[in-house]
Amino acid sequence: MTVVYTKEDLKAELLKLNKNIGFVPTMGYLHNGHKSLIEKSKSENEYTVVSIFVNPAQFLPNEDLDKYPRNKEGDIKFCEDLGVDILFMPKDVYFDYEPKVIAPKELASILEGATRPGHFDGVLTVLNKFFNLVKPKNAYFGKKDTQQLMVINNMIKSFFMNINIVPCEIIREEDGLALSSRNSYLDEEQRVMALKIFRSLTKAKNMIENGELDSNLIQKEMRGILEPLKIDYIEFVDKEFNKIDKIKLGESIILIAVYVGPTRLIDNIWI
Ligand code: PAF
Repeated sequence: MTVVYTKEDLKAELLKLNKNIGFVPTMGYLHNGHKSLIEKSKSENEYTVVSIFVNPAQFLPNEDLDKYPRNKEGDIKFCEDLGVDILFMPKDVYFDYEPKVIAPKELASILEGATRPGHFDGVLTVLNKFFNLVKPKNAYFGKKDTQQLMVINNMIKSFFMNINIVPCEIIREEDGLALSSRNSYLDEEQRVMALKIFRSLTKAKNMIENGELDSNLIQKEMRGILEPLKIDYIEFVDKEFNKIDKIKLGESIILIAVYVGPTRLIDNIWI
């Protein structure tokens, strides 16, 4: 594995290749969720590039940029062990004056974007840079960040980018908690409370399997299970992210954002 720290060195490395590249962009503190993205990329491409960059542009001023968990040596070993070809760990990728990608407000001011205005602009701007540098054939993203996936797909389509976006399944702990670097913020008690998220999604799934399709009734049950956690949103949407009152099997997504103590966690299921 080659570790590169500058865009110039990355370009030089990539120039040596004439291969299909699979790309896994991350913010580091790698876990088994990232492992599944990297393994999928390795199985589908001749070459796999992983980036680790805690992107300041996607954090709001009051968010956890400074304390976002970091583990440089551990992450390098993690990628090495998985057989990553190039690990790109830039210090910075921004200039003093530069254009930004603005995510359309119809997609980006709802749900995550309502609580985190500007977040998706930061995600798209940094991905635009990385896509231009890495020029991947395929890029891999987890379904845990389902709205992010949708906003990225919209950019790919709108900017005529020749990149295939590959959505990957959510990876969970044995007890159901969706893997996230932010889980490291949870103390023991909060870790137990966080299980309510998956429990509420499982309840919703069971209700639907038993024929209940009314999102208001399902949501009421979910809210009961989530108590006393502070709920940011529970939303029922179709694949285009339009709100729905009635579940359509195979076409619906239930999304949750809650605060477990000060930590904001998200999760979802596709129904
Ligand atoms: O999902 C993430 O970790 C980040 O939003 C991404 C895609 C790496 C962009 O910084």
